[in-house]
Amino acid sequence: MHNGRTTLSKFLIQQLKGSPELSDLAALLIDIAAAVKAISAMTAKGELGDVLGSLETQNVQGEIQKKLDVMSNTAFVNTFALGGLVAGLASEEMDDPIVIEAQDEPGRFLAIFDPLDGSSNIDINVSVGSIFSVLRAPKGRVPEVKDYLLSGREQVAAGYAIYGPSTMLVLTVGKGTHGFTLDREVGNFILTHRDMQIPEDTSEFAINASNERFWEPPVQRYVAECKNGRTDVRGRDFNMRWIASMVADIHRILLRGGVFMYPKDTKDLSKSGRLRLMYEANPMSFVVEQAGGIGSTGRQRILDIQPEEIHQRVPVIIGSRNEVDRIERYHQEYENGSDEQYKSPLFQERSLFAS
Ligand code: AHG
Ligand code: MN
Ligand code: MN
Repeated sequence: MHNGRTTLSKFLIQQLKGSPELSDLAALLIDIAAAVKAISAMTAKGELGDVLGSLETQNVQGEIQKKLDVMSNTAFVNTFALGGLVAGLASEEMDDPIVIEAQDEPGRFLAIFDPLDGSSNIDINVSVGSIFSVLRAPKGRVPEVKDYLLSGREQVAAGYAIYGPSTMLVLTVGKGTHGFTLDREVGNFILTHRDMQIPEDTSEFAINASNERFWEPPVQRYVAECKNGRTDVRGRDFNMRWIASMVADIHRILLRGGVFMYPKDTKDLSKSGRLRLMYEANPMSFVVEQAGGIGSTGRQRILDIQPEEIHQRVPVIIGSRNEVDRIERYHQEYENGSDEQYKSPLFQERSLFAS
């Protein structure tokens, strides 16, 4: 029955050949798949596995940790620590990166990950995910924090797992974005979505609309125009979805187009965005760009950002290219004042959103 199906291992061996670094990268991605299978099994147990609910601890972001945040983090840390392929790792759930002692040869890579994304969904049995990014480790010395602070263009691989009705692993090594579905009984990831391509245009957007009053005018303008649908400048009706799990929202967008936004807002002025550059924005932008989409802050391509801090947050606008381009243009027009004449009825009352 499995004859002719391409397993993740076979795919990676074929895609990553020709140098010791590439075969180590294939081995590392197979290790990541092993951690993902362990997390998939844990999340699937739900209430039966004593895995739901919160702990009393907070992570470095000041968020209360869920049991599964910590269990998923441990699954990744153990996999990387035993695998011997990384020299260090950094997690959304850990204050500082960890150095992995070399057993013989030091690992060639650094792993960065959000072990459980969308964890507010775990207790209500809605899709969650894991996100990972792989960078090159410095040669001949122990990695320091500054070694992680590379722009997203330097990623050698990135991807995510989605724990939904089926578990999928979606990844890129810079040669397209490919999706694998877990055959649970057999324990293999099978290539089911080769060379995923995001439609350039879309009629679907994803944003937490409860924050609308905190957004900047260009985002308010874009969303108002979408909501006004065929009665306004867009000339067609739009649909909205918000799962509150970036992985699940981006996965939908990879499959059928759309734009995901967690933009800059004024809700908490100490934060420059909700989502984290290293653990969420960079890996998801790499995956989306390799599928023909684009990731932006509204003012800058995400992959071009020079990170300053490992837990840094950024505005995220990501998905179908023409929509992200439009939202970037709205930011430019807002900044140079040429948006004054736009005609959305919501914005006839300019004073409402005057800066
Ligand atoms: P995490 O669970 O890793 O902290 O990430 C949650 C993120 C992201 O997945 C999601 O899009 C967003 O937070 C949801 O935010 P709201 O609760 O504001 O909707
Ligand atoms: Mn997350
Ligand atoms: Mn998380």
